[in-house]
Amino acid sequence: MEQYVIKGGNPLAGEVEIGGAKNAALAILAAAIMTDETVLVENLPDVRDINVLLNAMTEIGVRVERLDRHTAKVNGGLIGDLSVEYESIKRIRASYYLLGALLGKYKRAQVPLPGGCDIGTRPIDQHLKGFRALGADVKIEHGFIIAEAEHLRGSHIYLDVVSVGATINIMMAAAMAEGGTVIENAAKEPHVVDVANFLNSMGANIKGAGTDVIRIRGVEALHQTEYSIIPDQIEAGTFMFAAAVTKGDVTVKNVIPKHLEATTAKLSEIGCEVKEFDDAVRVVCSKGLKSTNVKTLPYPGFPTDMQPQITVALALANGTSMVTESIFENRFKYVDELARMGANIRVKGNNAFIDGVSRYTGAQICTPDLRAGAALVIAGLAAEGITMIDDIHFIERGYERFEEKLQSLGAQIEKISSERELQKFKLKVSADRHFSVVVDRTPVAPKGKKPQMNSQDNQEMSRQRLEETC
Ligand code: UD1
Repeated sequence: MEQYVIKGGNPLAGEVEIGGAKNAALAILAAAIMTDETVLVENLPDVRDINVLLNAMTEIGVRVERLDRHTAKVNGGLIGDLSVEYESIKRIRASYYLLGALLGKYKRAQVPLPGGCDIGTRPIDQHLKGFRALGADVKIEHGFIIAEAEHLRGSHIYLDVVSVGATINIMMAAAMAEGGTVIENAAKEPHVVDVANFLNSMGANIKGAGTDVIRIRGVEALHQTEYSIIPDQIEAGTFMFAAAVTKGDVTVKNVIPKHLEATTAKLSEIGCEVKEFDDAVRVVCSKGLKSTNVKTLPYPGFPTDMQPQITVALALANGTSMVTESIFENRFKYVDELARMGANIRVKGNNAFIDGVSRYTGAQICTPDLRAGAALVIAGLAAEGITMIDDIHFIERGYERFEEKLQSLGAQIEKISSERELQKFKLKVSADRHFSVVVDRTPVAPKGKKPQMNSQDNQEMSRQRLEETC
């Protein structure tokens, strides 16, 4: 079984490139089968969830051609089976997007009830309510959702909760329904907008994505397109918090700073300097972190997918903080693991009360889910001594080459699968123990200008400083 082993204590420094948004890519790949023509999708993240979805699509007859790690051609012209097998898709939640896509195109779909991260009850009643409003007969039998309709007809749908998945799923089905659909109380996340833009590039007629009212006029057919997925705001935010927690200086490149505003605001509040450029943000954090309160909310609020990362930072802040999780009720499971590293956090209901401590100490810990796993890695990077993290397959669901990207920023982290590799790592880091990395703190470039330093410069500088401090 693979594990991460981390020797904490190095401030992260340098530049890191962010990949395409996993949650946008999952929906876009599903939507790509809604035409018989070939669709080219670029900036796909090469992560486990995407690969599971592509495999499941292949099994129903979709032709998928990987041009490289981040580019695929998808052709849904020869789909022979409108029933997706449980085994092929059980591990990912976004399997439900095949429901909206198949129902929209073929007026029939059979998809297993979704899996995904265990972060609380995750009903899909709003998806089903939407499909029914469009005229589909929807039932759940033997673990499958079966939806079928003679005709899908546009409708007026009010979502009782703001749901990313339901908004996207209904949008897909309605894109090929007869007449107009209005979705009220729609989710406004950047990936909802990205999926709408993608469908529009295939000939759909969707207006208002990014606001809470989306209007869709159904079309008879969709056509080929070439489309590049937006950057992943959660991957970006994770590296921003990694910089904060390790007192580092990291430029996160290939991002849309507007999508990161809630993360940026909280980092500034806790004492970090965040500079925005056209397609990058630089996070510099030299002082101790300050406490604050935060509540997760639908976009543009603070994302629930960043909740574990900010908690890891606040547990090292000076003073008391409160984190309120308002989207998923079971999202504090990692707190017990963090406590094993020295954090002082009490969870009551959907609140975590955090008394900041001065340091983490390395421990052997387990990953309960995807984002919590990434957050625990960040804790390990800041901890004294060695941290070993089990169940890293959760992290690989959503982070591409996570350890390599962290290594390029100066982190001592490796993926290992044997005792021998662990001993090798320990020997290597103990040989390094007299070294300390000094973070370069060149002045931040003015807004509008691209960051000046590339990662090679930074690594070179870190290496020189390292030699200087031997
Ligand atoms: C998506 C993201 C996930 C993120 C979440 C919230 C994907 C694959 N996953 O999940 O990473 O954490 O958005 O930003 O894109 N709800 C209902 N009924 C429904 C649907 C949802 O009650 O039919 C509730 C959920 O229990 C939750 C809230 O609505 O409390 C938001 O869920 P939703 O936005 O649907 O999350 P997902 O689309 O599953």
